[in-house]
Amino acid sequence: MDRQQVVNFGAGPSALPTSVLEKAAKGLLNYNDNGIGLVELSHRSKDFAKLNDDLESIIRTQLDVPSTHHILFTQGGGSGQFSSVVMNLLARHTLLHPDLKPEERVMDYIVTGSWSKKAYEEANRLAGGKAVANLVVDARRTSKDGKSFDNVPQPSEWKLSPAANTAFIYYCENETVDGVQFSDSSFPHHLLENSFNPPLVADYSSSFMSRPIPRIADHALIFAGAQKNIGPSGLTILIVRNDVLVDVDAAYKLGANPVPLTMAYKTLADSKSLYNTPPMFAMYVSLLVLQDIQAKGGLGPLEEVNRQKQAILYDVLEGYEEKGILKLKVQKGSRSWMNVTFEFVDKQVEKTFLESAESKGLKQLKGHRSVGGIRVSLYNAITEEQVKSLISVLHASLGA
Ligand SMILES: Cc1ncc(COP(=O)(O)O)c(C=O)c1O
Repeated sequence: MDRQQVVNFGAGPSALPTSVLEKAAKGLLNYNDNGIGLVELSHRSKDFAKLNDDLESIIRTQLDVPSTHHILFTQGGGSGQFSSVVMNLLARHTLLHPDLKPEERVMDYIVTGSWSKKAYEEANRLAGGKAVANLVVDARRTSKDGKSFDNVPQPSEWKLSPAANTAFIYYCENETVDGVQFSDSSFPHHLLENSFNPPLVADYSSSFMSRPIPRIADHALIFAGAQKNIGPSGLTILIVRNDVLVDVDAAYKLGANPVPLTMAYKTLADSKSLYNTPPMFAMYVSLLVLQDIQAKGGLGPLEEVNRQKQAILYDVLEGYEEKGILKLKVQKGSRSWMNVTFEFVDKQVEKTFLESAESKGLKQLKGHRSVGGIRVSLYNAITEEQVKSLISVLHASLGA
């Protein structure tokens, strides 16, 4: 099949605009008329230094990142950050409160889906007898069936630890596997508005740059892999507040676990993300994607397009849910704009729909292997027209 005949609804790595990939292909062969391709340049060259600066500055402008925060680029993906967050923020907390007993030093996890669950498990692994991970809330307890991730629990259900003992509070803004998202009502920052705010950490991997980030300045750290909305895998973007850039070796002397230098946020900041060779190609494509977004008016208009895409799709799905044909997996108010999850009541109908979609070039619609059903990912590169074509196939396969 030709690229023009396909719509890629994959959950990531996912679709990128064709025009951007064409431009990237040219730069791969010959960057800025150097006669050398982008991935053949030195990462210490002037050309790449400019690219690094441009990427930083376009993210800063588009997301309105305050000057209190650094924007850093690294590798290792969201999963790498599950580990880095623990190591850096425990080091920070040890410097601030060296005398706490391990059982008093707490990492607070809000678990609303498969990815925050994984991050919580990694925190338990890496606590290493120096701290404990606290499950603030497990959203499965407030789910319809008692076992699925289908909601963001009301703040009244949350059990946050005492603020001074808390090394950080962690949440995942958009749960890619389950289709659960915070942004409808946004994170309940009012819970943290006391005299001492523990650092707030957010995994934005699958919603980064799909709309503005509410109360960005109130986050100590935001991280995201590029491979959903803005580029290829390999690039991880960090937005880090100054006070999180701590001397991990000084913390080690006070009893914290050692931190690999490539994972220490201060190392990345001190070297402007060039401590070691960065993911050059992924940074390049991400810059081109963001320039394309900027040329079309930036995050404001993009948010409106993304709002519209999910609204028309959920509307149709809710209609079929009322008729008993399918079930939306996530409760109203917690539904993701980026990953729409549902299942057909009759598995034969589901099979027919998937086959019919595939034959029309609508691909990667199967739900994550751990949860099944259907998952439609509506990242930035998916257009409203393409969502409408999916809806037509859905109507046709249901004989409507
Ligand atoms: C929300 C979220 N966090 C973390 C990850 C892990 O990312 P990576 O595969 O880049 O380690 C993913 C991957 O899909 C994700 O969707």
